[in-house]
Amino acid sequence: MSGPQADRLRRLAALRGCDVVLSGARPSTVGERLDAMRAALPEDTLPDMYGEGGVVEHVEHRIAELLGADAAVLFPTGTMAQQVALRHGAELTGRDAVALHPLSHPLLHERDAYAVLTGLRAVRTPDAGRFPTAEEVADLAEPFGTLLLELPLRDAGFLLPTWDELVAVVDAGRARGARVHVDGARLWESTVHLGRPAPTVTALVDSVYVSLYKSLGGVSGAVLVGDGELAAYARAWRHRYGGTVFQQWPAALAALHGLDHELPRLPGYVAHARLVAETLATVPGARVFPAPPHTHQFRFWLPYPADALNDAALALAEEEKAWFVGQWRDTDVPGLALAEVTVADPALELDADQITDLAHRFLRRVPIS
Ligand SMILES: Cc1ncc(COP(=O)(O)O)c(C=O)c1O
Repeated sequence: MSGPQADRLRRLAALRGCDVVLSGARPSTVGERLDAMRAALPEDTLPDMYGEGGVVEHVEHRIAELLGADAAVLFPTGTMAQQVALRHGAELTGRDAVALHPLSHPLLHERDAYAVLTGLRAVRTPDAGRFPTAEEVADLAEPFGTLLLELPLRDAGFLLPTWDELVAVVDAGRARGARVHVDGARLWESTVHLGRPAPTVTALVDSVYVSLYKSLGGVSGAVLVGDGELAAYARAWRHRYGGTVFQQWPAALAALHGLDHELPRLPGYVAHARLVAETLATVPGARVFPAPPHTHQFRFWLPYPADALNDAALALAEEEKAWFVGQWRDTDVPGLALAEVTVADPALELDADQITDLAHRFLRRVPIS
């Protein structure tokens, strides 16, 4: 095997073998994943059938309760779940336009599924690298059926509004006669910065989607929450979109493990991310954003080409069993590369001195051009 797939496997093997990991989590084998899922299994659980019963229903109830929602529906992907939520908003309001940020996931990473498959139209909030303001939403030139708010806005640096800004932007959407949907793929860790528990966020809006595999570390899947009417609609359209999979218990079981083991740790990751970001900001030529981070993830720039940084990360891992930061990409500024840092369980072991030492060992491996 050669090419990107071989590079990825080499990187995963190197990361798995590391004694020290700053960004990300050590990858598990499938066997280890199965052991963890077995440990999460409620007793006497039968498989679900087309998403009904079993551990799927168990996860739906658990997430409805955690988010303080009336009802929850499990989907194979967030891409599908959000199209259903947006379609629902269009049908209820009679408006096929959706207001969303130019850096939001449906506009950047879903091959225009919202338009091509779901027949919706985007009304973009201003192209600023920050969360939209209430004034910007109030001033949008066209009517829209749903305002989609991505919390946090990943491609702007995992950015969150303050609670008051969020309330104001939701109010502005409602004042335009729109429903409000939260892309909460990473809502789990957002409650720290927002200073409000998840049910308070859910209560503010009409629907929320959460991911089962990002910060929860599951296999795949998404849950859409809202009222009973939305849930019934979601089950009907999930079927039409081909998402009523015969059995979804593996995704549900992995999510249960994540809810038991990762969810309680996320506030600790968010707290430690502040120290990691503060320390990385002292590396010569480095920048971090946002400072301090709003969640346990943030952006990190270094003044070198991405290839040189990726090679250095791999060499450090393979030769010194230490993982710094990976998946660098070049930016529009020549010689300046960007990576996303994720502070998870292994980084908790590292204090500021150890992070600085790791950064220096990493940089010693980057050739000066
Ligand atoms: C903010 C956000 N929304 C939606 C999605 C879509 O999730 P899925 O991969 O389950 O389709 C992602 C996935 O990366 C995401 O980051």
